[in-house]
Amino acid sequence: MVHAPRFVPLTTWRELPVEQMQARSRDFAEELARRRTVRQFSDRPIPDGVLESCLRAAATAPSGANLQPWHFVVVRDAAMKHLIREAAEREEREFYATAPAEWLEALAPLGTDEDKPYLDVAPALVAVFAERYGEGVDGARITHYYVQESVGIAMGMLIAALHHAGLATLTHTPSPMGFLNELLERPAREKAVLLLVVGYPAPDARVPDITRKPFDTVTSWR
Ligand SMILES: Cc1cc2nc3c(=O)[nH]c(=O)nc-3n(C[C@H](O)[C@H](O)[C@H](O)COP(=O)(O)O)c2cc1C
Repeated sequence: MVHAPRFVPLTTWRELPVEQMQARSRDFAEELARRRTVRQFSDRPIPDGVLESCLRAAATAPSGANLQPWHFVVVRDAAMKHLIREAAEREEREFYATAPAEWLEALAPLGTDEDKPYLDVAPALVAVFAERYGEGVDGARITHYYVQESVGIAMGMLIAALHHAGLATLTHTPSPMGFLNELLERPAREKAVLLLVVGYPAPDARVPDITRKPFDTVTSWR
């Protein structure tokens, strides 16, 4: 059955003075430019409510046909974090032993390896699942559209929100990530796409000395 659309007035948008638009967009770009992927975390707890607000922000992401094909599992339990670390390190050991030379070469400047102590140390891990398809109340399969794109946008918003809130993140993608379905008891129709490590950086955290592409090489204006 095709539903007729219903419309309501757009009450959430607010116009900003031009100078404010310019200042806010510049400030936001500068703020995001300060984001770095952190691989040494402190065990300091995340203040109450911060993670939830950031997830609320992520869950407002646009999505193909508004089907919102995402699920976020927050892991703070030490025993579960440790199980995840053990499984991720198993995958990573295999990866580093068998990955194509070109891939390992691309990773070399980052200094990453199969040891993932931050999965124990950081106060929270957010496992992001992409719902390949949905399930209606009667168990009927609901086709999802643009799942990768939609979940990618939500993950980007989550990372930006966490950074904006003063937290550090590590976008971790042990491959394959099927162990997350098992450990976190998510259904087979969901695919684990990201294990986001969240917390404060360790006081002595260091990051790879890498650069971003010059802006004019990643944009064209016509
Ligand atoms: C899809 C994706 C997967 C990534 N997977 C990993 C990972 O498994 N382990 C890791 O240490 N970093 C991972 N990263 C982080 C990148 O290495 C990092 O974003 C990149 O080096 C740029 O550094 P920056 O985030 O500090 O700007 C991943 C990033 C993305 C976007």
